[in-house]
Amino acid sequence: MKLLLKNGRVINPADGTDTIKDILIAEGKIAAIGEELSADGAECFNAAGLVVAPGFVDMHTHLREPGLEAKEDVVSGTNAAAAGGFTTIACMPNTKPVVDNAILVAGLIQRAQVEGIVNLKVIGALSKGQEGKELAEIGDMILAGAVAISDDGHYVDSARLLKTALEYTGMFDKPIISHAEDESLVSDGYMHEGAVSAMLGMKGRPAVAEDIAVARDIMLAEYVGAPIHIAHVSTKGAVELIRQAKNRGVKVTAEVTPHHLSLTDEAVKGFDTATKVNPPLRSQEHVAALIEGVKDGTIDAIATDHAPHAYEEKDMEYRYAPSGFAGLETALGVVLTALYHTGQLSLMEIIRLMAYNPARILGLDAGVIRVGGAADLTIFDPDLDWIVDSKKFYTKGKHTPFEGKKLKGKAVATIVGGKIVMKNGRVIR
Ligand code: DOR
Repeated sequence: MKLLLKNGRVINPADGTDTIKDILIAEGKIAAIGEELSADGAECFNAAGLVVAPGFVDMHTHLREPGLEAKEDVVSGTNAAAAGGFTTIACMPNTKPVVDNAILVAGLIQRAQVEGIVNLKVIGALSKGQEGKELAEIGDMILAGAVAISDDGHYVDSARLLKTALEYTGMFDKPIISHAEDESLVSDGYMHEGAVSAMLGMKGRPAVAEDIAVARDIMLAEYVGAPIHIAHVSTKGAVELIRQAKNRGVKVTAEVTPHHLSLTDEAVKGFDTATKVNPPLRSQEHVAALIEGVKDGTIDAIATDHAPHAYEEKDMEYRYAPSGFAGLETALGVVLTALYHTGQLSLMEIIRLMAYNPARILGLDAGVIRVGGAADLTIFDPDLDWIVDSKKFYTKGKHTPFEGKKLKGKAVATIVGGKIVMKNGRVIR
């Protein structure tokens, strides 16, 4: 089966090229990149006017399997990924049971081979049951295929436990992904602590909770000499700490979400639980610092933190609703609308943040377009206007703070291993 993509704007951060090219795909791999290519019997895809990018890699997805399938499962989650233009997702271990041993890692990988339509990578837990007490089977999980280790959803309260975990992961050169919020400062808060929380009379989660946690985690990573990745950075202070650490040569990388780059705590004023997330939506000065951090390379990746919940769980009073919302199907549109169409980031930079860099952080052979490489590609129209309608989502998570918003830019096709798995918004299984 051959597929020929004609006249697309091929943007490839791996070599910095941005040119109109044809791409020939055969047997799941990129067979040729050039001009006026032809191939007998190939299916032709007219990509004129569209961007052809290396397949997007989401390094922070909550897939909810095993055990929490009312929120999401491998089928619905990978469908949502394909719909959003992602060809690879890495899933977090805060499931039921927690993915904290090699059997569960191997089981998920196997499940994804049968039921997934995009590539699935597994992140193993740092502590048993994510309880922050005893180390999980880190080495075994990595040998079984885990690409990173994280207690995401929880901060690793014990500095000693994180230090030991870093000593292990450092031997395998795999990153620990830190959910950096000091628990003692945030445990009874529901939104960013500031003027808006004071006005609403809502308990806050102060920015300093993240700053403190990031500072400690960077210090431990620096001391051990092992890589650490800071998940969903949301504060000005954290950006500055990461910037300084990078300048000192610490092995630290960082990601930011589309929502933290584009929304502020003002969005919480309507008490819509679709705005409730950890870390919380911050004030404008933090959003500006995050954008600055993305622009100067302090922040390496954009990750969705796709965290779907069942409708009934979110449909309740703000303080009782679980945190998190669906993100895979809005990520590209939000990023293009907030950062590309406002002239703040180029398409090359956005593709680097959404494909090339996350693949490098996780050590994946992905995020590049090269002859002989897997034909994992995202084709998008940067100018397509559309309105977010969660009823049309493939994810089971129907809450999004972008509901009804007009976005500019959308994936129009997703190709995984040479197969078109999404075209014009429709997932093809
Ligand atoms: O809002 C969040 N929801 N933040 C997290 O870190 C975890 C996530 C979840 O699993 O629902």
